[in-house]
Amino acid sequence: MPLPLLLDTDPGIDDAMALLFALASPELELLGVTTVFGNVPVEQTARNALHILDAAARPDLPVVAGASQPLARPPWPRGKFHGVDGLGNLNLPPPARSPAQWPGGAPGFIADTVLARPGEVTLIAVGPLTNLAQALQRQPRLPGAVRQVVLMGGAMFCPGNITPVAEANIFHDPEAARQVFAAGWPLTLVGLDVTMQTCQTPDDLEAISRVDTPAARFITRILPVYLESYRTYHNMDVVPTHDPSAIAFALDPSLFSVQRMPVYVETEGRCAGQVVADPRRQWSPLPEIDVCTGVDSRRLLARFHARLGLQAGSRRA
Ligand code: BDR
Ligand code: CA
Repeated sequence: MPLPLLLDTDPGIDDAMALLFALASPELELLGVTTVFGNVPVEQTARNALHILDAAARPDLPVVAGASQPLARPPWPRGKFHGVDGLGNLNLPPPARSPAQWPGGAPGFIADTVLARPGEVTLIAVGPLTNLAQALQRQPRLPGAVRQVVLMGGAMFCPGNITPVAEANIFHDPEAARQVFAAGWPLTLVGLDVTMQTCQTPDDLEAISRVDTPAARFITRILPVYLESYRTYHNMDVVPTHDPSAIAFALDPSLFSVQRMPVYVETEGRCAGQVVADPRRQWSPLPEIDVCTGVDSRRLLARFHARLGLQAGSRRA
């Protein structure tokens, strides 16, 4: 039986890769997509999600738009890391359909979908955590009804990517992250500690560009801008596999080593958005979550590439 899945996302180039990865995985049954502000404004993330579903020929799946700003602070000024449109400057025309209207928007859709199938639905979030926090506020029975929650976010034992200590998804709404971590649901964090170890090279991009599947064709169009941004802003000639790693965790947790530990989300001052791990339990009581601390990146990338249609060994050594 495929795993029923909800994806909360802010597409975003790596979000697009995550969504296409999920759609290409028969072990997963995507029930819908909710979108949040983040890489671009929420109206644009919803449009982008619709475009990605169109590229994958899945116009049947609902996209529900959610939060346009953080819970308790003004939004951070936007960058162009993922292109002006969030999809590698494709500048696509408006999608053929509009986002679905749902009572309570994305938080309502998340709560209703999870509660309709108690104990079954996996919730994956790869953007700021505002929709999840609002879903929790709306439906206190949510933590007991979800199967598992997998989040791309945080930098526990490595530098941040938006400040020296903060990862972008947590930084964009630290108050929401604090609520989501404290909800007492089965939560796994797939953060920069593992995603920065799982990088695609220009050779990978070249190999993907030779594959004739809808997912590979779409990624070939958007990935160059992401690679250029990593070159420009991070002096790296590779792209980390952030959001697809959360999908990989849902597909096969054995790709990762996981440690359970208390965590604290800083919301004040220059360290706002930092997720502090407290493995020695010196500040307890703090919420305890599962944190991915290691990854078999070769196996993860092999699985991702296979799902895009790459033949084993098609990448140059
Ligand atoms: C995360 O931030 C966003 O820019 C990416 O889409 C990813 O979800 C990485 O820090
Ligand atoms: Ca994202």
